[in-house]
Amino acid sequence: MIELKNVSKTFSTPSGSVEAVRGVSLRIQAGEIFGIIGLSGAGKSTLVQCMNLLQRPDAGSVIVGGCDLTAVSPRELREKRRGIGMIFQHFNLMASRTVLQNVMFPLRGSGMTRQQQRTRAFELLQLVGLPDKADAYPSQLSGGQKQRVAIARALAPNPRVLLCDEATSALDPQTTRSILQLLRDLGRRLGLTIVVITHEMAVVKEICGRVAVMQSGRIVEQGDVYAVFSHPREDITRELVGAAVHLRQIDELVHAGSAAVTPGPGQLLLRLTYSADNVSEALISTASRRFGVDLSIVFGSIELVQGAPVGGLVILAGGERARLEQAVRFLISKNVGVEVVLDGKSFAKAGA
Ligand SMILES: Nc1ncnc2c1ncn2[C@@H]1O[C@H](COP(=O)(O)OP(=O)(O)OP(=O)(O)O)[C@@H](O)[C@H]1O
Ligand SMILES: [Mg+2]
Repeated sequence: MIELKNVSKTFSTPSGSVEAVRGVSLRIQAGEIFGIIGLSGAGKSTLVQCMNLLQRPDAGSVIVGGCDLTAVSPRELREKRRGIGMIFQHFNLMASRTVLQNVMFPLRGSGMTRQQQRTRAFELLQLVGLPDKADAYPSQLSGGQKQRVAIARALAPNPRVLLCDEATSALDPQTTRSILQLLRDLGRRLGLTIVVITHEMAVVKEICGRVAVMQSGRIVEQGDVYAVFSHPREDITRELVGAAVHLRQIDELVHAGSAAVTPGPGQLLLRLTYSADNVSEALISTASRRFGVDLSIVFGSIELVQGAPVGGLVILAGGERARLEQAVRFLISKNVGVEVVLDGKSFAKAGA
């Protein structure tokens, strides 16, 4: 549905040029929800604006629905753009117009009569769950309601693609979930291809099937959301995933010397990382029983990503050293990632 080939965009500013997007190639399939994640300044907004040519790339091509947008006439481009809706973090509604008028706005010049436009806009407000707000003004709505209006407006010309640039970043977690749920439902019902730009892995986890990670203008990693969550390859991806799967918090506790995570003599502080293929087995109790070691859970974080678990546990493991090593080898043989965070043996030595 969307294909970017070697797209680059550089801005000239008084303080020099900024390469916002550098040679990005990407394919997004019809009907999928595709996430693009990265830190502030990574180039996400610039990239997504290249998808409808709000920003014209300096190099490369942008093919949407089989049409190379960089090669068409301005008139044809205007026509093609009607097939690509967009929503933003700050909703961009017109304050002086009612909700219904905002949704009708993109239908001007579409050949519909005023009455047909009203009917269509009203149907769209029903679709996003706000039929009773038709005559309200944007200032009378909550953030979540404003975003629903913006979604209705974006869908008015019946687009096949919806670009969402940080569409939930200004909303609280509960409203975020309801907007994401709405996007997912609309995507399914209307057969939309949805591109979700975000800096939050939680958003990606909630609705995307595939994700690309962007850093300094480049796509550094991409794949199925589950694969990227369970086996992140790049440091930046690990950082972003870590914020959603809280297992890295243990590093802060270790760093702060917290008693809760300090192994006694002979104990090990282990971080176990799970993925889909092993959590269903009772590995901890099996390891404990089979090797006669004490395994106590200090901290855990397991998230469901696309219905499968990702995450793990931090445990204090105590017992005879040879048996502990056997237990660790057993866990590794079951595809559990095992990392020794702290070893009480070295502590005991250091103390001695
Ligand atoms: N119109 C512009 N003129 C000059 N520089 C720009 C322009 N738009 C973006 N940039 C620069 O391009 C880089 C990428 O910006 P972009 O807005 O695409 O990042 P982003 O990933 O969307 O960040 P955020 O998460 O903060 O929205 C930044 O260094 C930014 O300052
Ligand atoms: Mg942005």
